[in-house]
Amino acid sequence: MVGGLAVPRIRFGERVLREWAYGDAEVLREAAEDPYIPVITTVPREWSEEAGRAFVERQFRRAEDGTGYPFAIVDERGRTVGHVGVWIRDLDLGRVSIGYWVVASARGSGIAAAAVGTLAEWAGAHLGAARVELHIEPWNAGSVRTAEKAGFTCEGLLRSWGEVGGERRDMLMFARIVGSAARPAAS
Ligand SMILES: CC(C)(COP(=O)(O)OP(=O)(O)OC[C@H]1O[C@@H](n2cnc3c(N)ncnc32)[C@H](O)[C@@H]1OP(=O)(O)O)[C@@H](O)C(=O)NCCC(=O)NCCS
Repeated sequence: MVGGLAVPRIRFGERVLREWAYGDAEVLREAAEDPYIPVITTVPREWSEEAGRAFVERQFRRAEDGTGYPFAIVDERGRTVGHVGVWIRDLDLGRVSIGYWVVASARGSGIAAAAVGTLAEWAGAHLGAARVELHIEPWNAGSVRTAEKAGFTCEGLLRSWGEVGGERRDMLMFARIVGSAARPAAS
């Protein structure tokens, strides 16, 4: 439990989204070796106990300062395999965004798509969001497929949307309508 926003425990099947804990830092050892995860996140490029601890503390601060809700993704065996977070800067406009990663040794089981879909639904039901957004680089076929499986639709290409790894990059905008806005209008 942290101050600011309280990060809940959310079950999805046998798996769980929950607040990061110091004991999760081990997963960062593998994440640090990924060619892409450290480029788009604050996962350290070189793992050390201190760097792992600092990553976990950054997640605490994101909840404390109201940036959003960062979750560790825990699989059915109790192993922490990745991260998913919902960021609420534009929540007063009804919009939130989600970011995610799963370490290579845990990929392909459907856990990323299930985690993203679960968190999108939670944001609609518990935060009152109407629209959940994902920004995905066009080459990232795995993330595109994850978004589609989680119920998101591609709305187009945002050219030179932001800097990634020191370069301007295009992003596909994926969105899912959630909460009461997702329900069909009463006749
Ligand atoms: C994107 C990522 C989270 C997907 O993780 P995952 O655990 O493999 O995803 P899932 O198992 O839930 O798979 C979801 C779908 O994507 C497909 N998929 C996953 N990786 C793929 C790839 N490299 N190419 C094509 N399809 C892929 C899966 O087959 C599945 O679709 P299916 O059920 O129709 O077969 C993971 O590759 C990752 O962390 N990548 C690095 C960080 C990143 O890109 N984050 C997202 C930034 S926008």
